[in-house]
Amino acid sequence: SGPETARLVASRVLDVPDFPKPGVVFKDLMPLFADGAVFREVVDGIIAHHGRESFDTVVGIEARGFVIAAAIAYATGVGVVPVRKAGKLPRAAYSASYALEYGEATLEVHQDAFTAGHRVLVVDDVLATGGTAEATMDLVERAGGTVSGFTVLMELGFLGGRERLAPRPVHALLTV
Ligand code: PRP
Repeated sequence: SGPETARLVASRVLDVPDFPKPGVVFKDLMPLFADGAVFREVVDGIIAHHGRESFDTVVGIEARGFVIAAAIAYATGVGVVPVRKAGKLPRAAYSASYALEYGEATLEVHQDAFTAGHRVLVVDDVLATGGTAEATMDLVERAGGTVSGFTVLMELGFLGGRERLAPRPVHALLTV
């Protein structure tokens, strides 16, 4: 159930102070990935929430989103598409930039990544300010896909990502 899944996620996240820079508390979900039974339950929970017939492709956001996306893709028989940081993709790509606290970040997706109209489930480990997710959803749509859902393992509610992404729905297994 939802509350049980939330407790499970909460039990497998480590707070790392001052990473990647002073003042930031990093949410490390590696312990969740490393626990086979918990990882399987979390992946199955995401699939059950959206319904396995609701998407044709799954997108993982670099880097931890790749792990979740690949598991969902394997379990449901759909393909997986990576959204990558700038300069990593070998062929023609669309780029989307967004502001960080200092400077900006750029994400990219191959221009031919999606069959037109394919329904795309987007997944990542953590939703913070929502800049990463917003850029990813823009890229999916520019490349011809339709975002059918967005799931994160953990949402940092106080950073306003959900409001930034509205009216697009956000599904979080755990919100803090
Ligand atoms: C983290 C996290 C999300 C993003 C969320 O990735 O995995 O992708 O930040 O932040 P936002 O909602 O404020 O945009 P990170 O930048 O650490 O990249 P990595 O997964 O490649 O380490």
